Amino acid sequence: MATTPSRDVAARLGEAFADYAPSAEGRDIVTIRPEYGLVIGGAERPAADGATITTIDPSTGDALARVAEAGAADVDAAVAAARRAYDGAWGAASPRDRAKLLFRLARLLQDRAREFAVLETLDGGKPIREARDVDVPLAAQHLFYHAGWADKLEYAVPGMRARALGVVGQIIPWNFPLLMAAWKLAPALACGNTVVLKPAETSPLTALLLAELVDEAGFPPGVVNVVTGAGATGAALVDHPGVAKIAFTGSTAVGKGIRRALAGRGVRLTLELGGKGAHIVFDDAAIDQAIEGIVDGIFFNQGHVCCAGSRLLVQETVAGDVMERLRARMELLRVGDPLDKNTDVGAINSHSQLVRIREFVDGAVEEGCAVHQPSRGVPDAGFFYPPTLVTDVGGSERIAREEVFGPVLTVQSFRTEREAVDRANSTRYGLSAGVWTEKGARILWMADNLHAGVVWANTFNRFDAASPFGGVRESGFGREGGRHGLEAYLDLTPVRA
Ligand code: NAI
Ligand code: MG
Repeated sequence: MATTPSRDVAARLGEAFADYAPSAEGRDIVTIRPEYGLVIGGAERPAADGATITTIDPSTGDALARVAEAGAADVDAAVAAARRAYDGAWGAASPRDRAKLLFRLARLLQDRAREFAVLETLDGGKPIREARDVDVPLAAQHLFYHAGWADKLEYAVPGMRARALGVVGQIIPWNFPLLMAAWKLAPALACGNTVVLKPAETSPLTALLLAELVDEAGFPPGVVNVVTGAGATGAALVDHPGVAKIAFTGSTAVGKGIRRALAGRGVRLTLELGGKGAHIVFDDAAIDQAIEGIVDGIFFNQGHVCCAGSRLLVQETVAGDVMERLRARMELLRVGDPLDKNTDVGAINSHSQLVRIREFVDGAVEEGCAVHQPSRGVPDAGFFYPPTLVTDVGGSERIAREEVFGPVLTVQSFRTEREAVDRANSTRYGLSAGVWTEKGARILWMADNLHAGVVWANTFNRFDAASPFGGVRESGFGREGGRHGLEAYLDLTPVRA
């Protein structure tokens, strides 16, 4: 098994990281150990029963590392370590100390940004440009933002006394492994909780590297524990009586199961689940910009994005023009080696996700839809799927209703604003929507009428740590980010005058 794929990585990166030669400061671009243990109480250890899972580079299929697979006994040990830290050093730390440690963690992450970007791309398949320009800086931004709140919580929710909850269990998906880790850890720690984090089984490496930085920053042992594993590990965390809260990001099906499992137990829960975002283009929109927004909305991160704009709704009068330009733009998209800085669409995260995407598109053809893909093919090795347009869509097809989580865009047209809103809202999800129009009043009316946690206007996929993010309907509940995101990690009681 490969230990340090640096030489190969350096060649694939080319000039993207020219100033980051493997020999600089004596460190390789990225060092991947053959084996990783669980992080419990500040120490690394194998699973009690010795179980492991192998994480691969989805762009080649090559194994990267073996990672411990935590069972119920390990989860129990992690929760106990988190509890000890909560009752001990972390509970005793002042809000200002928590802020200082979070600031330090954010800076350490920035210092090693390139290493994180390369590791994220290797383990998950996303284009290096996105890992470098979006995932890592945004992860650092979440840590900085929440560091600022740690000693100002009394102002976050005026009139309420805010206390930490205790040990929180956090289960994250594979589409933004580092970002979701930072996104979840930052508010939990700022509010004074301790954490047991469960990364996704196909992309655990950046969360494990982040745990090393947590230690380096000086957080007391046990404040952040990482239990790697698959669904059973996550389920053991949900079932553990010692957790005060579960925060989950992932599929709606698993989210529903978690809610059932927690029913009646008094455990706090936030769910950030799937989506089927409508991307609505009116005939007065700046079409060239809208095309870029549409492309970013669905092909960013191979469409593995909960808030992806996966349903394009175009006003009838410009539908022909938009489709023509979109097809031409899609011809220019480069699908290939995620480590190549010119790659636009990287590898599909796992074989099972690739199979799922294929099934969706094959099913759409069987249901009478037309499929368009660019003339360039995709690499043979690894898991790749081309950018795909699905037209002749009625709305009742499976591809029009369910989250594909791949680079696949359905297209429908509409005549009036009302029709656009009705189409956009005819889904069980409610995470995101996008509107392209020059009319301000129309933007406001659409935002009022669209059932979605976030509505972007003349932009898409724009994220900021200060802005609350989350869904309605089957996209989940609770907000992450901003002041609202803090409330999910606080026990609030009114202050008596
Ligand atoms: P998933 O929901 O199974 O995985 C997300 C996380 O939950 C992973 O860490 C996984 O190990 C964990 N998990 C799985 N079963 C669990 C259980 N019973 N209890 C606790 N934790 C559990 O998603 P999966 O199977 O990887 O992807 C399938 C589909 O789910 C995708 O095609 C996509 O449509 C959707 N999905 C949506 C995400 C989003 O952010 N909206 C993220 C990941 C998947
Ligand atoms: Mg992997």
